[in-house]
Amino acid sequence: MASFNLTINGKNQQVDADPSTPMLWVLRDHLKLVGTKYGCGIAQCGACTIHLNGTAVRSCQLPVSAVGEQKVTTIEGLSEKGDHPVQKAWLEHDVPQCGYCQAGQIMSAAALLEKNANPSDEEIESAMNGNICRCGTYLRIKAAVKTAANS
Ligand code: FES
Ligand code: FES
Repeated sequence: MASFNLTINGKNQQVDADPSTPMLWVLRDHLKLVGTKYGCGIAQCGACTIHLNGTAVRSCQLPVSAVGEQKVTTIEGLSEKGDHPVQKAWLEHDVPQCGYCQAGQIMSAAALLEKNANPSDEEIESAMNGNICRCGTYLRIKAAVKTAANS
């Protein structure tokens, strides 16, 4: 067990945990930030996607000891009122079905647009292809990313 000072959604948080604990469990179990979902646990589905200094990463494979002073953002911290352009586009296109994968999808899309404000179809597909949706919402996801890019 060790103590970690983390910056999560703009707030300092102290967490006592085994250094190998994945950030997914630090977020969900220690901090009760349950918007980040557990899908596969082996970096294959993208349900657990968060931002580390603005880059999309899979929190199921990120040990708390590797975070250091890097800024962590979860779906809860993406925008204050749920009005990030990606979230607004998701509503406009009525993207989610069961919703389980969607926090991870939104975090991947937001990280893409932060780095590339006007992605091509291929760039969208490449950025989003690590996020699996068992409900098959891929076409609406792609349309919503384009809407967010143009907003
Ligand atoms: S739960 Fe992390 S990629 Fe599936
Ligand atoms: S909306 Fe159900 S898994 Fe994606």
